[in-house]
Amino acid sequence: MTANSNRRKAFLEEMDLGPLWTQRHAPSGPEDALAAPDDGTAMPGREAGAQRSAQVAMPVEEAGLPVHPSAPPQPEVALMDWATLKANVAGCVKCDLCRGRTRTVFGVGDEKARWLFIGEGPGRNEDLQGEPFVGQAGKLLDNMLIAMGLRRGENAYIANIVKCRPTDDNGRDRPPTADEVAACLPYLERQIELIQPTMLVALGKTAALALLGLDPDTPVSRLRGKIHRYAGRPLVVTYHPAYLLRNMADKRKSWEDLSLAMATYAGAD
Ligand code: URA
Repeated sequence: MTANSNRRKAFLEEMDLGPLWTQRHAPSGPEDALAAPDDGTAMPGREAGAQRSAQVAMPVEEAGLPVHPSAPPQPEVALMDWATLKANVAGCVKCDLCRGRTRTVFGVGDEKARWLFIGEGPGRNEDLQGEPFVGQAGKLLDNMLIAMGLRRGENAYIANIVKCRPTDDNGRDRPPTADEVAACLPYLERQIELIQPTMLVALGKTAALALLGLDPDTPVSRLRGKIHRYAGRPLVVTYHPAYLLRNMADKRKSWEDLSLAMATYAGAD
């Protein structure tokens, strides 16, 4: 057995459900099981990156950039190449989320990945660092990837439904509104077109409902355990990693979802 497969085996054992899949936060009460939390997870080990980010970024309002609707017209997002798309996201003022952001969070990973994982939107740590899933939920997501034989940046790409951090009046993370999702979704749609992934995994309620165009009242528990389609590509819905941190018992169900995705991937052309 290679070092790699040993490592993978160790992670798989932890699905059932050992040290790396341990609960880091006390349960915070019942809520929609697929919804992302607004817990502003502490983020050990990334402090250097956060400091670097804080030095170079400033909220759009402070930078004096115009915010919609007076924003200059954008070239057609659906025609953009990677560089143009990244530049446009970095300067985006299509919705009010730009006012409070430190950095946009474009996405990270292999731009030719066969696997695309899609979360809700940046939290506090992601806003500081400009990279998706860098907190504890991100560590869990990385472990999920490794258990699947993937890695952030190796045949996997990680993106979000919205590129700027949504916060409530108290500065806490919140899910994006329908208008914010609508403003931002063309960027993700273009990323998907450019990546051409074989398999999509929606992490949580916001991603699932946005990608599948479903009414917010859709009982999302019904979305798990099935192969959906997004622009003709298979899509599996599973729990948001931050939810799993608070609800360890559902890690097993999440592994079932990921196993379904792997079986689908294996059978794909
Ligand atoms: N939660 C998300 O949905 N996305 C991130 O990038 C971080 C936390």
